[in-house]
Amino acid sequence: MNVLLIGSGGREHALAWKIAQSPKLTTLYAAPGNPGIAECATCVTLNVDDHAAVISFCREKSIPFVVVGPEAPLVAGLSDALRAEGIAVFGPSAAAAQLEGSKGFTKDLCAKYNIPTGAYQRFNNAPKAKAYVRAEGAPIVVKADGLAAGKGVTVAMTVDEACAAIDDCFEGAFGEAGAEVVVEAYLDGEEASFFCLCDGTTLLALASAQDHKRVGDGDTGPNTGGMGAYSPAPVMTPEIVERTMKEIIEPTMRGMAADGHPFSGVFFAGLMITAKGPELIEYNVRFGDPECQVLMMRLKSDLLDLLLATAEGRLQDASAEWRDETALTVVMASKGYPGSYEKNTPIAALPQPTETQRIFHAGTALKDGALVATGGRVLNVTAFGQNVTEAQARAYAMADQVDWPNGFMRHDIGWRAVARENQGEN
Ligand code: AMP
Ligand code: GLY
Repeated sequence: MNVLLIGSGGREHALAWKIAQSPKLTTLYAAPGNPGIAECATCVTLNVDDHAAVISFCREKSIPFVVVGPEAPLVAGLSDALRAEGIAVFGPSAAAAQLEGSKGFTKDLCAKYNIPTGAYQRFNNAPKAKAYVRAEGAPIVVKADGLAAGKGVTVAMTVDEACAAIDDCFEGAFGEAGAEVVVEAYLDGEEASFFCLCDGTTLLALASAQDHKRVGDGDTGPNTGGMGAYSPAPVMTPEIVERTMKEIIEPTMRGMAADGHPFSGVFFAGLMITAKGPELIEYNVRFGDPECQVLMMRLKSDLLDLLLATAEGRLQDASAEWRDETALTVVMASKGYPGSYEKNTPIAALPQPTETQRIFHAGTALKDGALVATGGRVLNVTAFGQNVTEAQARAYAMADQVDWPNGFMRHDIGWRAVARENQGEN
């Protein structure tokens, strides 16, 4: 079968690498892809906002199945447009993608179906939001309702900080995304991510991961899209996974179906493991980046089979097998990220993959045949190990071989888990 993959990040390189291993695949196309993806797919230029153009490309190339990597095309309704033409899609409808596209939508769903999450209220003006913050006190969390590229959340340690964040939202710091604001209770605990496929009526739990959002060592500095991740997350014990499925993901699936927008795709649940158990911070409706890279390293099953079973409502017959080892990925980013950074800086030849190590490309391009960095997050150096300590050592050993003077990375990805392993707790 021919497949079209939408996206160009490290997540999509990892998806392309796994899809390309499927015996069911004939040709994999990627739009727009990147030089890493080009090693396992045919990269094409397509305007994914132009749904008619995507449909006609699928017709021209006899593509019956499209895999959507990022959230923006889902929120914009690409899945709906393709499905209306009889093309199968991995990724939810625009209505179901509201789970990521509107924080207020998700909080209302949690309230209606008793899904554990922080207490909250939605606001469309600053004075009422501030009055609520003053009544509740700090710490408290202020969120722009819509998609804000991960920047619309302020975890405020004081009432003043929360009020300033409310002003920012309503004064347009996040454009339309901040026209509505959610104020929610601060949750205390350890964060983890959990991934689960859903075909509308059946769930297939995948795996857990933990990422590092801050740009600097020791989890300091501004938030980024993610500077590294590892899987599995030790905090997601079998008991916590079972509770997450029963208390959070199953009621979400049932609630979405009951409310008339059944969910098809992957639930990426951002969780806080509190003293009471798992609570939902947020949903994303696509794989995480860089979490996907560590998941794909560990997945033994045929990814194309799993994604197609999800899209076609056949998950009851599906299962996923995983390597027991830990996978860990280190993001190499352009100096200056998440602020401004220089583009088109040269990257010398990359180290070759080994049995346990490989590099996924994100913001790279070829210029006159030479590899250059064009994005903020540029390379994902990924490795396996018997535990986090070994995976971390292998990932950094490979990262140290990358000759890219304008690149930087964190040096402590996985530090919490490594510290635990060294104390003999795991
Ligand atoms: P989000 O974009 O919703 O994932 O939020 C970004 C980050 O803010 C999360 O990864 C958490 O670290 C933090 N955060 C969001 N909501 C809360 C909350 N209710 N309590 C504590 N931290 C939160
Ligand atoms: N790494 C977080 C995300 O993909 O949203």
